[in-house]
Parts: sequence; structure tokens; C-alpha cells
Amino acid sequence: MTPPYETILIEDIGRVGLIRFNRPKAFNALNSTMIAEIMDALEAYDRHPDIGAIVLTGNERAFAAGADIKEMASESAVSILQRDHISTFDRIMHIRKPVIAAVSGWCLGGGNELAMSCDMIVASESALFGQPEINLGVIPGAGGTQRLTRAIGKALAMEMVLNDRRLTAEEALRFGLINHVVPVERYLEEALALAQSIAERAPLALRFGKEAVNHAFESFLSDGLADERRAFYFCFASEDQKEGMQAFMEKRNPAWKGR
Ligand code: CAA
Repeated sequence: MTPPYETILIEDIGRVGLIRFNRPKAFNALNSTMIAEIMDALEAYDRHPDIGAIVLTGNERAFAAGADIKEMASESAVSILQRDHISTFDRIMHIRKPVIAAVSGWCLGGGNELAMSCDMIVASESALFGQPEINLGVIPGAGGTQRLTRAIGKALAMEMVLNDRRLTAEEALRFGLINHVVPVERYLEEALALAQSIAERAPLALRFGKEAVNHAFESFLSDGLADERRAFYFCFASEDQKEGMQAFMEKRNPAWKGR
């Protein structure tokens, strides 16, 4: 798969790779082509030596209104299992660079699951988060029940999954689902600024830091602590650790090399 893509647009902005969803008429509903193209672009940016962080975004009216219902409607249990297009979502878990979702408008179903698969979420005041699958007679299928529960706790996750409770951006911030809420005209700019600030930091430490935080959700505390410590000690094999600590003591900015 090579750009130009059919359903997304990509743009390099400094050290940030920007991926914009581009199915505005369908509120960026995630069809299988779009899911595959998003993952392909993420992986390309993950390999790109001059890119340090990635931003995923939609448009002001919609981050994404969920998986494409028109594409799924006629599936049987066997055909959808055999096609298994939702497992494509899992590829985001292997992206090593930080990924930030810049969310405005509808962030529903698979759209919310995609946003929650990112490392951070910057939202506009008009963002609305929900898992409305119950209205379609199904449940979230791309991690919603797991990631939502870990992020906001059982009580509210139950209400969202079982009763289509939606969260405003302010609520999502209060309950710990997202990082920042900003006026709609600034959400992308703020997400890009956050990504740029992160992208300028020590690449190896970023990678280990992301892995270690994610391990907190995937392992027992003792395993997570041991993994974290090993990664911390391994940082000391890098030139960046020497440079970072030296620069601190010399009261200057470090020059990172990524090795
Ligand atoms: N899939 C396919 N098409 C979608 C869509 C979706 N998820 N969401 C919106 N669209 C399409 C509509 O069909 C419509 O297309 P047409 O113009 O061709 O009719 C267009 O986008 C505009 O939508 P509406 O006319 O419905 O606009 P609205 O302003 O009245 O409502 C909305 C907006 C609240 C987002 C509404 O469209 C909606 O509820 N969408 C579905 C949300 C949803 O249920 N998402 C979960 C999907 S299942 C899932 O994601 C499973 C999973 O876990 C992987």
C-alpha cells in the first residue's frame, strides 16, 4: 500500500506525521479500506527516521462515527469472523512512537475505540464520546469494553456500553479519558504542538516510556515494575542518556541522537 491513499490524507509537519481521515460525507465511518490505510500510514511514520510522533485526526464535525455500518450490515457471524477486519485495529498497539488523537465532533463506536488506542487525546469543546453499538444490537468490537473500563472505571463504562451514555469533552476530561479540552478552532493546533514537543525528546526513552506505561495495563504490577526497571537500566546503554544527564549538569539543552 502506497500513498496517495483513498480515504486518508497524510502530511509531515516538522517532526510530526499527521494522518487525517477523509470520508467527510460518512462522518469518517471506518470502512475496511480506511482502517487498513490508517494502519499502513501509522506503520510508515513509525519507520520514518525524521518523524518523532504521530497525530490522528478527522475534521471539526467528526473524528469518526464508528465502524462503517453499511459495510457490516449484511455480515453473518461466520463471514465477519472470517473477514476479521477489526483485528486490523490491533496493529496500532505495535506502533512504537507516541500517537495523539485530535478529536472534534462525533467520536463514536470504533471511532472512540481508535481514539482510545492512541496514547493521548486532545479534544475540542464540541467532541462527544460514546459507544452506541447497543443501539445496533451489538457491543463494541474493537477494544471499547476493555479500554473504556480501564480509563474511566466500571460504573461509567457500563452506562456507556449498556445505555449509550455519551460524554462531553469536559466530562471526558474529568473522568480521565482525555488529556486536554480546547476551543474548536485550536484543537488540531494544540495536538500538533503537544506532538511536536514530544517528538523533540529522546527517541529511545520515548519508546521505553510508552511501552512501560502500556505495560501497566497489561501485566501484574510486579511484572510491570520489573519490565519498567529493565527498560530504565537499558536507557543507560544509550548516548542519549549520557547527553541528557550531562546537559542537565551543564545547564544546557540536550542534543538527542536517538542512539
Ligand atoms: N457507518 C456508516 N455510515 C455512517 C455512520 C457509520 N458508523 N455514521 C454516519 N454515517 C453516514 C450516514 O449513514 C449518512 O449517510 P447518507 O447521507 O448516505 O445517508 C451520513 O453519514 C450522515 O449521517 P446522519 O444523516 O445520520 O447524520 P446525523 O447528523 O443525523 O447523525 C450521527 C450523526 C449521530 C453520527 C449518526 O450518523 C449516527 O448515529 N451514526 C452511527 C453511530 C454508530 O452507531 N456508531 C457505531 C458503529 S458500530 C461500531 O463501531 C462497531 C465496533 O465497535 C467496531
